[in-house]
Amino acid sequence: MPLGHAAGRGQAGEHETTTIGPQMNTTAVLTDDEVGILLAAAVQAPSIHNTQPWRFEVQGPVIDVLLDEERTLAVADPVGRAARIGIGAAVFNLRVAAGMLGHESRGVPNPDPMLPQVAARLFLAARTSPVPDLSRLYGEVGRRHTYRGPLLSRSVPPNVLHKLDEAAHAEGADLHWLGPAEVTELGSMLRRADSDDLHDEDRLHERLQWIGGDRPADGIPANALGPLPARHSLVRDLSAGFDSAQRSRAVYEPDPTIAVLCTPDEDTAAWVRAGLALQRVLLVATTYDLAASFLNQVIERTEPRYQLRDLIGDHSWPQMVIRIGYPAQPAGRTHRRDWRESFDQWF
Ligand SMILES: Cc1cc2nc3c(=O)[nH]c(=O)nc-3n(C[C@H](O)[C@H](O)[C@H](O)COP(=O)(O)O)c2cc1C
Repeated sequence: MPLGHAAGRGQAGEHETTTIGPQMNTTAVLTDDEVGILLAAAVQAPSIHNTQPWRFEVQGPVIDVLLDEERTLAVADPVGRAARIGIGAAVFNLRVAAGMLGHESRGVPNPDPMLPQVAARLFLAARTSPVPDLSRLYGEVGRRHTYRGPLLSRSVPPNVLHKLDEAAHAEGADLHWLGPAEVTELGSMLRRADSDDLHDEDRLHERLQWIGGDRPADGIPANALGPLPARHSLVRDLSAGFDSAQRSRAVYEPDPTIAVLCTPDEDTAAWVRAGLALQRVLLVATTYDLAASFLNQVIERTEPRYQLRDLIGDHSWPQMVIRIGYPAQPAGRTHRRDWRESFDQWF
């Protein structure tokens, strides 16, 4: 065990700044089977370009989620914002699986200033009965996929939008639903960002390393990119022109439902929290057979991100642009590394 590592952990509450979940005593010890169930759920989380930028360390009832610097994107995500959102989503999946097993859990972003690579720490309580609001989402963890195909014209009912709002609020974030004029404005911003991306050799080179072709363990395979939009649409074509020959074409819906996931703060802890909120929203959406994809080209660049912030106008920080609706066709799948490849156990 590396010196100082165990010393950085302790009872829930140590070093904490903000927490996720209830107050509790952490007396649980996880069995090997439980660790497998928890981490198999964690790695199903979404991550930018399916980089899976996480490592997990389990010690007694504590799971640390570390940022894997070797799996971050130097060009698209130089400060690790998107990577931490993916880590937050993985932490939410851990909480869902723990809740299904009967463990209450509590998370702390950035738990230890001496260990900045630990992006989040999860404390698990002794096993009792399933945690209702989390365990009911467990079945959605493997069903959720990013869907980049066209959406049906059926609109999302207001009561369902309200449930998604509640999901974001539960994790301290907000969904800002764009009205028609804002969607039009966003469309112009997306076109400019797409054009900038296409002229950015470093970015294209980075994308080529992760996107297209067959990707059995990470990255986005060509068959998960969705059809090529027949004309410019409110969907992101991550291929940047590669793999076009293998892909069908489709006409996309002209007026998708779009929400911007926003956090009140903008720092590493806020990014982890944004990931928790994102994943709670996506899993709740999946319970209603909704699917989502993302238009984050306007988040990855500073200028359009500030323009989007102005468009929303409430001084919160846009973290994800989410296009949401009922899928018109099945989603292509991305794959994951085996969870054991990103796991260390400490005794
Ligand atoms: C922070 C973040 C940013 C993302 N940005 C985009 C995006 O702009 N466009 C897109 O189509 N998918 C985006 N994704 C989705 C990932 O590509 C996707 O989660 C990953 O490929 C794994 O596939 P899955 O979601 O189907 O499991 C993003 C995901 C995260 C967590």
